[in-house]
Amino acid sequence: MRSAQERSGELFDPTAPEFLADPYPELSALRETTPVLHHERLGRWFVTRHADVRACLRDRRLGRNFRHVGTEEEFQAEPLDPRWQAFWDGERWSLLWLEPPDHTRIRRLVAAAFTPRSVEAMREPAERLANELLEPFLDRGRMDLLYDFAQPYSIGLICRWLGVPDDRHRDLLDWSHAMVKMYELDTTEEQAVAANRAAEGFRDYVLELIAERRQSPRKDLVTALVEARVDGGRLSEAEIVSTVVVLLNAGHEATVNTLGNGIRSLMHHREQWQRLVDGSVPAAAAVEELIRYDPPLQLFERWVLEDGVEVAGALIPRGEKIAMLFGAANRDPRAFPEPDRFDVGRANAGEHIGFGGGIHVCIGAPLARVELEVSLRTLVERCPNLELAEEPKRIPAFVIWGLERVDVALG
Ligand code: HEM
Repeated sequence: MRSAQERSGELFDPTAPEFLADPYPELSALRETTPVLHHERLGRWFVTRHADVRACLRDRRLGRNFRHVGTEEEFQAEPLDPRWQAFWDGERWSLLWLEPPDHTRIRRLVAAAFTPRSVEAMREPAERLANELLEPFLDRGRMDLLYDFAQPYSIGLICRWLGVPDDRHRDLLDWSHAMVKMYELDTTEEQAVAANRAAEGFRDYVLELIAERRQSPRKDLVTALVEARVDGGRLSEAEIVSTVVVLLNAGHEATVNTLGNGIRSLMHHREQWQRLVDGSVPAAAAVEELIRYDPPLQLFERWVLEDGVEVAGALIPRGEKIAMLFGAANRDPRAFPEPDRFDVGRANAGEHIGFGGGIHVCIGAPLARVELEVSLRTLVERCPNLELAEEPKRIPAFVIWGLERVDVALG
């Protein structure tokens, strides 16, 4: 007789179109019956509850990578496909791919750039850019919130931070969109080819930028990375390329999707939008509920690096893979009363696990919070009668959770 865990595992299919159409009822049912389940076909253990996901994020016996402690055979991992070498090279020194001590060394350097003062200094440029982007559409009356506003806004701010000139923003967006498809559960060969090509383009561009900044330094992050000294040495070009790529890819996809998903939630719950318009809830508080209610990143994984790891009563052997379901955890009634209610004034919304936790906790969270607060406030103030012009369609992918477009009437 098979256990309940295994049976639920067969039914749960995070790649099925019916699931992707509205995952929350199924995620809730799963969370209530099954805190942890082994999925035979996907070769992973899914973790569903808030406290367990939180604990996994902080457990140092779990790693984003295993290659510092074991071989691919031991971990039964597919070898990295050499056809996508440019993509793997780009990931090689990414914070998201590293574990200590390399992770500690590079993270310390990047963290030095995210001081509260430097993040606060982005508020004014963010306000300016949000208004500039919105201006031409106020007369036209309609826009695609993602393409016309959220994408150029978010990419504009992260590029300003990095030191990438305006005329390259669209290239970076295209490269980033192509590369992040490699994080999905069912990447196609066509997507992998495109991701690899994008990684080549991105690498060549960052190498150019490094050479330029060596010649003529500026006050930007690429210059800081070029000039940084760590443990008596400098960062290699490969380390700088990976760091710029991860900052850009991690730094805009999730922010754009938070705004898209969030505006959809607000338009479906008009009374909550009204609380922002009448000023009874500040935009900064609402941002936390937007991330809790419909997080832009639904799943993160860890490798089990040691024996003896227990998750929700299940002993998970070394070499296995754990997938944490953020959308399930963020609607756990044990953490959030009436979790399916969208409430922009929710007192403890900030306890969502949308930014992760532990050593890989989102390094850009303070910047993301400023960006989102400013863009949401600008929309509320300048377009209080905002409406969906059409019901937005989901991108049929689970991990990076977003909408294809969000057509809005500005009112
Ligand atoms: C709403 C927006 C955002 C969300 C929801 C988000 C979420 C996350 C999460 C969940 C992680 C941890 C992944 C893990 O534990 O496996 C993470 C890591 C990271 N995020 Fe964000 N992020 C956002 C915005 C940003 C921004 C604006 C930046 C950069 C400016 C950024 C840069 C990074 C980087 C570099 C990491 C890797 C950190 C490490 O591994 O040490 N993120 N993010």
